[in-house]
Amino acid sequence: MLRILLALLSAILCLTSCSDSEKIYKIGVAQCSKGPWREKVNQEMLAAQHLYERDVLVEIASSADDPEWQARQIDSLSQTGIDLLVVAPNEDAKCINEAISRVRKAGIPVICFDRKTSADYTASIGGNNVEAGLIVGQYVGTVTKECVGAVAKGTKPLVLEITGHMNSTPAQERHRGFAEAMAGLPDVEYLCRHSDWSSDSACRIATALIDSLRRSDPARLDQTFIFCHNDGMATGVYKAVVEQNVEGRIKILGIDGMPGEGLEYVKFGHQIGTYSYPTHGEKIIRLAIDILTGKPYERENPLLGFVITPDNVDLVTMESEELMRQNDHMVTIQDKLEAYFGLYNTQRKVLVGSFIAIVLLVVAVIMIWRAYVQTRKTIRQRQELNVEETLFYTNPDSRTLRHVFETSQEEMPAPRSQDAIFAETLNEAIRKNMSNPNLKMDDLGDAMGLSRVQLYRKVKSITGLSPVELLRKMRLQQGYVLLTTSAKTVAEIAFEVGFNTPGYFSKCFKEQYGILPMDLRQ
Ligand code: FRU
Repeated sequence: MLRILLALLSAILCLTSCSDSEKIYKIGVAQCSKGPWREKVNQEMLAAQHLYERDVLVEIASSADDPEWQARQIDSLSQTGIDLLVVAPNEDAKCINEAISRVRKAGIPVICFDRKTSADYTASIGGNNVEAGLIVGQYVGTVTKECVGAVAKGTKPLVLEITGHMNSTPAQERHRGFAEAMAGLPDVEYLCRHSDWSSDSACRIATALIDSLRRSDPARLDQTFIFCHNDGMATGVYKAVVEQNVEGRIKILGIDGMPGEGLEYVKFGHQIGTYSYPTHGEKIIRLAIDILTGKPYERENPLLGFVITPDNVDLVTMESEELMRQNDHMVTIQDKLEAYFGLYNTQRKVLVGSFIAIVLLVVAVIMIWRAYVQTRKTIRQRQELNVEETLFYTNPDSRTLRHVFETSQEEMPAPRSQDAIFAETLNEAIRKNMSNPNLKMDDLGDAMGLSRVQLYRKVKSITGLSPVELLRKMRLQQGYVLLTTSAKTVAEIAFEVGFNTPGYFSKCFKEQYGILPMDLRQ
């Protein structure tokens, strides 16, 4: 019974654990900074948690352009038991590279996105920054052409590039691409100032330029183009332009093309262009799942971007709004899904718990029933034994044995010892009357001319048994003889040797001879 119960319980546990075998991968994301572009990619990754064939759990940490902080965040993400790390390394810094190496050493795959590093990584994904700089530069080339004829002889359109932090690969690569495009524009005067991705520093650089142009050649303000490495810095430049009262004269460009930022600035005419720097958080999650599930994947995964100008900004805005709506729907569906998962898990636990309780209850009922039946059987046997003993010692049955004993005494040869005579007499008296289930001690005592106490002492001293035990032993002996020499049934024999029930006969027989009468018969 216990074995069945254990098997049943382990089957239930196996069943419940089998449904958990689809592991939910945990993906840690270490963002180097905050801002609209990072927010968008984060939202896309979160919205893709249940998008593919395997569910993932995305946990995001953001450092504010601080390499040391980002290295610490990478370490703590790895300690929370992530299955894969996605990292946008702030820059190619020693502390970040060492943290990435520790993660790799722990056997955790690493995806580098957006920015690059010299640390070893499993795969990388992100926009092509050289191309971004190049095609924005080419676009600047087309717009500057329009003013080339209008400028007084000897003056050229002025193009100022304000870079992001040159420690980071996007700034280096955007600069490389843009400088390459500028090299192909001999009719343009190209300047470059390095900055740090902040709008304040871009604002200061732009203010200084406007100041100097105003003093040296104010007309040139209308042929000035300022390209910033991101739209955040472009807002700093716009601020300077507004403050210096040259709004609409200096043309501003940026990179990122985020709704609510660059996209709107182009739409409202604050900027003449931006570059849609791709986010595609869902593609990052797709790549992560491919790596985690052992599917084939590309090590380098470039994402495409494009230039946003006043000509295409309405279309791009429409598409981007539609995409954002869909993303919001996905997040809503995902929230509901997670709520359902929670409910489903609770229900499943309750169901399994109830099932186990029912099984235990059934087992308990069966065990109680068996114990009850066993107790009843023992009580009945005990009662039978008591009745047998009581009858033997007390019941004044009228059937006399005296005559039987007298008869046998006549047949006994003499002279013999008193004990021998007693034994033979008793033996014969018992044999002759054992079929009487109500045979009494008093009857035997009468037959032997002894009181009950005397009979008891005498029998005990000669046989070592009480009269009741002796009687039962002899009944069983006779039963054995009949079983082995006659064709009578067990029941017939049981009654013949003085048992009230065949069952009790079988039980006593088994105790005496270690075998059931039926088995002996066979
Ligand atoms: C945000 C950001 C973006 C830029 C990207 C380059 O942190 O500065 O504006 O396009 O990083 O890595």
